[in-house]
Amino acid sequence: MKSPIILALDTNNLDTAKSWIEATNSSVGIYKVGLEFYLRFGAQGLRELSSAGNFSIFLDLKLHDIPNTVSAAVSSVADLAPKFLTIHASGGAAMIKAASEAAKEISITAVTILTSLSDEDLLEIGYSHEAKPAALNLAKLATTNGARSIVCSPFEASEIRKLVAPEIQIITPGVRPAGSEMGDQKRVMTPLEALTAGADYIVIGRPITDLAKKSLQDMKNGAAKILDSLK
Ligand code: C5P
Repeated sequence: MKSPIILALDTNNLDTAKSWIEATNSSVGIYKVGLEFYLRFGAQGLRELSSAGNFSIFLDLKLHDIPNTVSAAVSSVADLAPKFLTIHASGGAAMIKAASEAAKEISITAVTILTSLSDEDLLEIGYSHEAKPAALNLAKLATTNGARSIVCSPFEASEIRKLVAPEIQIITPGVRPAGSEMGDQKRVMTPLEALTAGADYIVIGRPITDLAKKSLQDMKNGAAKILDSLK
């Protein structure tokens, strides 16, 4: 099954994560595991998830350290064979290169500028560019140093698409199906708009996972409905 939906397993409960995979696996082929899950359950937790379905992992660890340390960290998770593994592009060219060379079969995925940072925040940190030009610059830096995918806002996807090689995969969170709750997301696109803007994959969390509060069948139907809206 080829689906552009990446479901964010934002939970610190292993059984909940498993039940979400079982409920949605007919519409979702990739699950995003972040620090909340990984720091609690580690590699063993990921292995336990694998019995819940047939899927790939987006390991969202947002690595950022000296090149040698990042290279070793990538090697440490290589046997888990995540499809995507995130690093911060702001770690610089040598760090990105070290990550990319540490496990050639993993798509090293560069996070550009966190969307939680405003232009004012960036100036305060010492950046000389606003968020958008900084993100474009970091996307270019990352992909010329071996990153094979980029995480960005759907509002940056079309410009990044023009800037990077066609085989580079663009992944955007910040998507909401029409009519769903915004949560803490401020600027959003629908899944179809994000893909049309140039994204290859969309990360979705609460619009699907909140449905599990009603029932796992509702969750299954919700994921299927989003996938249908993309056809
Ligand atoms: O629940 P929601 O659909 O907002 O979840 C989106 C997922 O994508 C969460 O795991 C969130 O941490 C992540 N994310 C995001 N915005 C970013 C980067 C990551 O929402 N800019």
